[in-house]
Amino acid sequence: MTATRVLSGMRPTGKLHLGHFHGVLKNWAKLQQDHECFFFVADWHALTTHYEAPAEIEENSTEMVIDWLASGIDPQRATLFVQSKVPEHAELHLLLSMITPLAWLERIPSYKDQREKLSDRDLGTYGFLGYPLLQSADILIYRAGLVPVGEDQVPHVEFTRQVARRFNHLYGTDASFLERAENAVRKLDEPERFGDYRKRWLERGDEAALKAAREIIKRSPRSEEHSLLLGFLENTGQPILTEPAALLTEASKMPGLDGQKMSKSYNNTITLREGADSVVKKIRTMPTDPARVRRSDPGTPEKCPVWQLHLVYSDEQTKEWAHYGCTTAAIGCLDCKQPVIDAVLEEQKPIAERARHYEDNPALVRTILEEGCVRAREAARETLQDVRSVMGLS
Ligand code: TRP
Ligand code: SF4
Repeated sequence: MTATRVLSGMRPTGKLHLGHFHGVLKNWAKLQQDHECFFFVADWHALTTHYEAPAEIEENSTEMVIDWLASGIDPQRATLFVQSKVPEHAELHLLLSMITPLAWLERIPSYKDQREKLSDRDLGTYGFLGYPLLQSADILIYRAGLVPVGEDQVPHVEFTRQVARRFNHLYGTDASFLERAENAVRKLDEPERFGDYRKRWLERGDEAALKAAREIIKRSPRSEEHSLLLGFLENTGQPILTEPAALLTEASKMPGLDGQKMSKSYNNTITLREGADSVVKKIRTMPTDPARVRRSDPGTPEKCPVWQLHLVYSDEQTKEWAHYGCTTAAIGCLDCKQPVIDAVLEEQKPIAERARHYEDNPALVRTILEEGCVRAREAARETLQDVRSVMGLS
């Protein structure tokens, strides 16, 4: 485990598809191996745009968490929870709203874009304008260091850094800092020796003592206290809110059934838990290079969405076979599609198996979320306590 906490959220907008799997979920599954991870269902964020369809949001939330679990997100490693069950996010959102200039929100690109794109809905609401600030609260309440997101979300993380900076500037380091630091020191293996090293460093500039003290901190299993202790060791204090960094998720190269990017709004998806029959049918009926009218007409793979799928799923040999077969008309399009069909089915097998386990045990999913929620609230309360105290609300 590294000291950097990871946090990310997803709006429950519907069934997840292979684009989410290759673009986001595989990345989350990797991160959970060596980071403390919090992943949550952003149901309040969904309400900002879908406030007319609350029932759908609830249904989608559970289904989405099953998709996460089916993809290998491990509730023993990562904390999974639902945003609206951690009301601390809302309180922090409210408190941050006091210090957030309206102009910062109005100039975020997604605000204008989305309002225009979703013009069938009235998004001239207070909640929608506050969308990025709610996201900031989501991130800052956990003092997350890394936020894995797609490119479209980077401005929101940048905005979050700005809000954190302004907050820390206005309220300085936390008044309870010393008390919290001294508590953390007491929990170290060798508190006396640590205190001694610290004194030698601060009073005499003894570099060896500084190094030794840092080693003691590093050995502490409570990684969430490392930055507090380091701030104490060097008397630099600890900012109340942590400025997060975006961890850019490489844009998903997952092509949809029509060659455009796979996306629900293009109606070109294979869902994560698509039935085998449906996978076969969808790929069999995919459009191909229009030049291949007859079986004997050669084609150009680069003009064909099936080729895009070969690039994701096939090994070199299969790709060579498909490319050669297409350009020489040695194979037909259905032949060409078969290895892709097999690969997608193979990929979905373990996913479907895990999903079934959770579909059959809805209580299990509920328990996972409840336990995640308890852990999340614990972490969130810690930050909120500090925020309340510096804002004169303790
Ligand atoms: N806005 C994000 C999206 O649409 C979802 C989200 C909400 C989020 N809160 C977050 C992502 C906090 C990362 C961190 O994808
Ligand atoms: Fe596409 Fe394959 Fe048919 Fe060529 S042979 S057009 S690559 S499906």
